[in-house]
Amino acid sequence: ASNSSVSIRGGTYKTDPAWFNVPSNVLDATTRKLHLQKDHPVYITRQIIESNFPSPTYKYYNEYNPVVSTHQNFDSLGFPPNHPGRALSDTYYINDKTLLRTHTSAHQADTFRADESEGYLISADVYRRDAIDRSHYPVFHQMEGARSWDRNKVPNGDIAAAVRAGLKTLPKHNVEVEDPNPPYHDERNPLQDCHSAAEAQAIGEHLKRSLENMVVDVFSRAKAAALREDPTFVDEPLRMRWVEAYFPFTSPSWELEVYYAGDWLEVLGCGVVRQSLYNNAGVPSQLGWAFGIGIDRIAMLLFKIPDIRLFWSQDQRFLSQFTGVSDNLDKLNRFAPFSKYPPCPKDVSFWLASTSPAGGNTKGNFHENDVMEIVRNVAGDVVEDVRLIDEFVHPKTGRKSMAYRIVYRSLERTLTNEEANSFHESVREALVRELGVELR
Ligand code: PHE
Repeated sequence: ASNSSVSIRGGTYKTDPAWFNVPSNVLDATTRKLHLQKDHPVYITRQIIESNFPSPTYKYYNEYNPVVSTHQNFDSLGFPPNHPGRALSDTYYINDKTLLRTHTSAHQADTFRADESEGYLISADVYRRDAIDRSHYPVFHQMEGARSWDRNKVPNGDIAAAVRAGLKTLPKHNVEVEDPNPPYHDERNPLQDCHSAAEAQAIGEHLKRSLENMVVDVFSRAKAAALREDPTFVDEPLRMRWVEAYFPFTSPSWELEVYYAGDWLEVLGCGVVRQSLYNNAGVPSQLGWAFGIGIDRIAMLLFKIPDIRLFWSQDQRFLSQFTGVSDNLDKLNRFAPFSKYPPCPKDVSFWLASTSPAGGNTKGNFHENDVMEIVRNVAGDVVEDVRLIDEFVHPKTGRKSMAYRIVYRSLERTLTNEEANSFHESVREALVRELGVELR
């Protein structure tokens, strides 16, 4: 990459210094494609989810380029111009019109336009500026799925009947699902004008059953793996629940949650595709559903992987544990932790720069994600967790003070205290240099 351009997966893109905010560790990750690396847990999880949406009904797209336009990522999906997801604090930009996709929905419009089958699955790496902890990493993987019916191709143009006929062919699981939601709700989760109540209801039921079946399959594979390791293994029965949601590109919309280790965990978002997407894609006679699921989170549950950084590890003690599983999913085994290395927590506190947003920092006002990125840039995958531990405003000066606790811990070796101190010193210097804060 020269000063004014950057190369990503074979493409060269002009960078705009007012927008470009992709650090080198994130650029490096664009080459990894973990979802296409055989025997990697992310690859195996993709295979398992795909097996629940079989070809030829569903076509698989796994090679879309991560560099997309703001139109693809936001506008084509109906995100308003002022949507917070568009901010430099949340999204990695190359220039004002070009970014690293924040979700696989960025490819919905293009795939509806190109796709000749009735459905598709898109798996890809996605990029978000976010917090640092054991379940957040600036790069992760999503799978998008969609199923469409064509008014001109179903018997008598009766979409509702065609969808209900399809629903009858789907397996019936016997897991407890809480779904107190009406098929649509005029204020909270409205029907689209162009759909009849019967159509929206049938599509919603087909969507929910398809996704429940997939989740049941994933969790029964996890349970089988646990039983292979320990025949006396008992776990709580799987529980799922549907909650109403909002996405600019579906209506009605829902999220599916799974009860896991005492908490309801959101596993996916979905809904009835907004007709404007089909219309803009040149297929106005189609209608149907779409979903998006985070692959890494599912892989963590499936393989019992305690820290999302492990996916990026090149350590054979991690990778070799899954050899051969891609070719025989019934051999799936859970992760056996190698020894756990000690954590090195260190605190830093500082006064925020009291200058106006115009001064110095092109990224504008203080945003916590800037702290996260500075720490990640300095310490790479040696940082496990960063959290705000204190925050106050000085009563006289009005200045704001923040304190963060940074936990340094390698997954692969013991850090010496000198190493941790040296990372921490570099973090402190970078906070001053890049955010203009005053250390306390
Ligand atoms: N793209 C959404 C997200 O990342 C998920 C989604 C996909 C929701 C498809 C509805 C339909 O949160």
